[in-house]
Amino acid sequence: MSDPLIDAALAVRLNAYAKFSNFRVGAAIEDFEGRIHTGCNVENATYGLTVCAERVAVFKAISEGVGIRKFRRVAVAADTEILTPPCGACRQILWEFCGDIPVVLVNLHSKTETYQLKDLLPRAFDASYL
Ligand code: THU
Repeated sequence: MSDPLIDAALAVRLNAYAKFSNFRVGAAIEDFEGRIHTGCNVENATYGLTVCAERVAVFKAISEGVGIRKFRRVAVAADTEILTPPCGACRQILWEFCGDIPVVLVNLHSKTETYQLKDLLPRAFDASYL
């Protein structure tokens, strides 16, 4: 059975600007109204200015007016046999804007695994400490 969130992550992955790593990633995030917001990694010749797919998707959604913690789940697509998880920086950003949502990992063979964000980012730092 196909999952529109996974399909969106796989589709947007093809838009990745990944000419330095050749490692294309797609992310799709579903909000509480069922809308899907997508992002791909966007690299830069200076390397350090690269932005991951997950952050592009979250920032697009927030900038379109989706409220903080109004997201149901996120999917991350990459072409690896061992499924690619979000990097540490993206885990922190996902926590800030989404809280403890399921993170669905998928590869090009439709292999999937789902993790709760709290298990990927245990004892997260957030605004509750400030
Ligand atoms: N990347 C992502 O977009 N998301 C991840 O979860 C892991 C890494 C990107 C950053 C960079 O463009 C390329 O993958 C290699 O690290």
